[in-house]
Amino acid sequence: MTSKLWGGRFTGEADADFVRFNRSFDFDRRLIHADVRASIAHAAALFKAGVLTTEEARAITEGLLEISRRAAADPNYLVDDQAEDVHSFIEARLVEMVGQVGRKLHTGRSRNDQVATAFRLWLREEFDRIVELVRDLQRALVEFAARHEEAVMPGYTHLQRAQPVLFAHWCLAYFEMFARDRERLRDARRRTNVLPLGSGALAGTSYSLDREEMARALGFEAVSRNSLDAVSDRDFCIEFAAAASLIMVHLSRLAEDMIIYATAEFGFIELSDAVATGSSLMPQKKNPDALELIRGKAGRVFGQTVALLSVMKGLPLAYNKDMQEDKEAIFDLVDTAKDCLKVMATVLRNARLNEERTRAAVRQGFMNATELADYLVRKGVPFRDAHEAAGRMVLAAIERGVELHELPLEVMRAVSPVIEEDVLFALTLDATLGTKNQTGGTAPKRVREALKEAELSLRD
Ligand code: ARG
Repeated sequence: MTSKLWGGRFTGEADADFVRFNRSFDFDRRLIHADVRASIAHAAALFKAGVLTTEEARAITEGLLEISRRAAADPNYLVDDQAEDVHSFIEARLVEMVGQVGRKLHTGRSRNDQVATAFRLWLREEFDRIVELVRDLQRALVEFAARHEEAVMPGYTHLQRAQPVLFAHWCLAYFEMFARDRERLRDARRRTNVLPLGSGALAGTSYSLDREEMARALGFEAVSRNSLDAVSDRDFCIEFAAAASLIMVHLSRLAEDMIIYATAEFGFIELSDAVATGSSLMPQKKNPDALELIRGKAGRVFGQTVALLSVMKGLPLAYNKDMQEDKEAIFDLVDTAKDCLKVMATVLRNARLNEERTRAAVRQGFMNATELADYLVRKGVPFRDAHEAAGRMVLAAIERGVELHELPLEVMRAVSPVIEEDVLFALTLDATLGTKNQTGGTAPKRVREALKEAELSLRD
């Protein structure tokens, strides 16, 4: 049955290609449970407004619940090449089930406020799922750090060895990024959780629908304040997309770090067979496919974000059909971000850090040169001169093929006469790490505290 929702005004037949082009059911059927919930709240409001009798409201509500049950029980229930969209699908099934009374449900409502409501309800739940996945990923980072609490590794700038840091400090750097992501999602969820229903097609509704009551029934924190805005606002989609994009930026950077650390050249991290693949040609290969795909899918998420922005930027008020394009973008964003978060947590839970390799790497490359400069500062040398002197000692060490702490004392004194025996202690790894003892620094004491705080913060 092709039950068009706007039959009266039309005499001509629709072009078959256009009908297919216009349809959204194949993707927006994902909104079925959300749309049913919103429709039940609408039926209750119609009852309260005196539009539906008790029996009519009950028949409609039961019919709607049955549609939801069938959809959940049997995926084939949602195979339909006739329905234009999920809203017309539900109405057609409802009328089949409960008869003509089903045709009263759409009183005082438009698909414009209907779709905005269902989409917000649906996305609200996905916000919550993604927040949990981000939290789980943070937990995996804390676990990885805890498995190697003492481990040290080179910190890099410009991908050049810079200063030693604790491996846990590196883990917690990503933890912070995901903490901000979780905050961002929560914040955007608040603006998503606003009820558009009762806005009609654009001007509001002439029936006395109790919008506050509908909002309460559906768990919305507020009702929209302007009907024109409510039916045409997709900021909530774009805010979600932006938050998802930043999650992907963070995942992609983490992936990139780990891909590099898993190379033979670094040899810091060993990835589990569970998340790597071999080569069909080269028997020795173990490729970090999981991480590469996460890095790659970041591009896809950014693409959908730009698509949403571009769809919205030129639209006149209020609803325009362009906005149907929001669904596939958001569905793809949600699916991709969730997959990537899950896979990354698995990668982390199965990865092993080669602590000997990272420790050996810290001992080479003059990573204590800054320490040497700081030592000279403590002896009263102005930092600029200290920097210059330490640089000359690095040069002397390079010429001799040794590390800074292996440089004979008299060679050092020749550069800077203030140097004494205690320089050897200042150049040790323990001293180097231990002095970074301010909030946010990599001193072991600070990192242990940060790890505890991180664990605590996972509870909220
Ligand atoms: N499928 C449409 C969408 O996703 C539903 C709203 C249609 N409204 C309309 N007046 N054509 O945006």
